[in-house]
Amino acid sequence: LFWRSSWCAGNMAEDPVNVNEYQELARQALPKMYYDFYAGGAEDQHTLKENMEAFRRITFRPRILRDVSKINLSTTILGYNVSAPIMIAPTAFHKLAHPEGEVATARAAAASNVIMILSYVSMCTVEEVASSCNAIRFFQIYVYKRRDVTAQLVQRAERSGYKAIVLTVDVPRLGRREPDIKNKMIAPQLKNFEGLLATQVVSDEGSNLQAFAASTIDASLSWKDIGWLRSITKLPILIKGVLTHEDAIKAVEAGAAGIVVSNHGARQLDYSPATISVLEEVVHAVKGKVPVFVDGGVRRGTDVFKALALGAQAVLIGRPVVYGLAVKGETGVRRVTEMLKDELELTMALSGCPTLKDITRGHVITDPERL
Ligand code: FNR
Repeated sequence: LFWRSSWCAGNMAEDPVNVNEYQELARQALPKMYYDFYAGGAEDQHTLKENMEAFRRITFRPRILRDVSKINLSTTILGYNVSAPIMIAPTAFHKLAHPEGEVATARAAAASNVIMILSYVSMCTVEEVASSCNAIRFFQIYVYKRRDVTAQLVQRAERSGYKAIVLTVDVPRLGRREPDIKNKMIAPQLKNFEGLLATQVVSDEGSNLQAFAASTIDASLSWKDIGWLRSITKLPILIKGVLTHEDAIKAVEAGAAGIVVSNHGARQLDYSPATISVLEEVVHAVKGKVPVFVDGGVRRGTDVFKALALGAQAVLIGRPVVYGLAVKGETGVRRVTEMLKDELELTMALSGCPTLKDITRGHVITDPERL
C-alpha cells in the first residue's frame, strides 16, 4: 500500500463545512486509483448522478409555530438505541483510505453512537473491529460459492457480537466500473478470507475486481437460499439491494427483518432508478411489517429528512464515510456523521418537527413524473 504522507487537509485553510468539501479533500489526499474506486459508479454513471439529483428535486412543506426549542434525533434501529437515523453503510477496503481502516470507522461510529455495518470485504477482521470499541455493529455478507467460507464468517460475526446480518443481493456479478478498469485497480488482500486472497485473482482486463467477484460470489443465489442463511444464524437478516415492490414483498415473505432500498451506490446496474425515487413504492408494499432503510446519494441532513418523510426508518451513508476517513481518519468519519446529524437537526427545527415521529409525508413535495 502507498498513500500520501499527510492525512490532514493541509492545503485547505479552513475545516470542511459539508460532506461535499470532504469529498474534494479526499480527492486531494488519495492516490487517484483509490479515489476513483471510492467515488466511481457503473458505466455512464447515470445512476450515480441521479441518486443525488433525485434528492434535489424534492422540496419541503415546512410547518411553523410548533415549539422546536428542543429537537430529538435519537431513535431505535432493530431495538438498539442510536443517536440518529443514520447508519454507516458497508463499504470495501477501508485501509486504502486510512491505515487504521475499519477500526477507525468503528471507533467513530461508537463515538457518534450510530450503527456501523462492516463490509464482507474489509481489511480489518471481524474480530479486530469488534474488539476495538463498543460500536453497535452489523455484518454485511455476500453469499460465496464456497458456502463454508460464508457460514464461517457469519458465525465469527455472531460470536463477536455483531447484531444483524446484512445480505447484499445486488452483486451476482460486479458492475462495470470503468475508472477501475482504466486504473488497473487491484483488490487488496482481504484478511477475512482464509486461504483466499483477492490479490491471487488475476484478470486480463487490468483491474482484478471483476474477476475476484466472478470467482467468489455465487451468482446462482435465489430466494430459497435465504432459508439456508436463516438456518445458520440466529441474527436478524436485512436484505440490501431491493428496488421494486415485488421484491420487497418477497423479502418480507422470506423472513427478512428489514429491507435496504439500495442500488449499491450506483456501482452495479447503471440506469437503475435513484433509490429515493423508489423508496415509497417499497414502503407501501412492506406495510410496516419490517423497517425499510435507504442508501444512495445522501449528502445532507435535508436528504436524511426527505428519506424519513418518504417512509425510511433510517438512511445509510457510504462514500461520505470513506471521504471522512481519507481526510482525517476516525475524526473525519466522526465529523461527517456529526455534520449530517447537525444538518438534520436544523432541518427538523426549520420544518417544525421536534422529533423524528413528527416528520411526515406532508412535509415534502415530490413530482411523481420526475422523481
Ligand atoms: C460500496 N457498497 C458496498 N455494499 C456492500 O454491500 N458491500 C460492500 O462491500 C460495498 N462496498 C462498497 C465500496 C464503495 C467504495 C462504495 C462507494 C460502496 C455500497 C454501499 O453499501 C452503499 O450502498 C452505497 O455506498 C450508498 O451510496 P452512497 O452513500 O455512497 O452514495
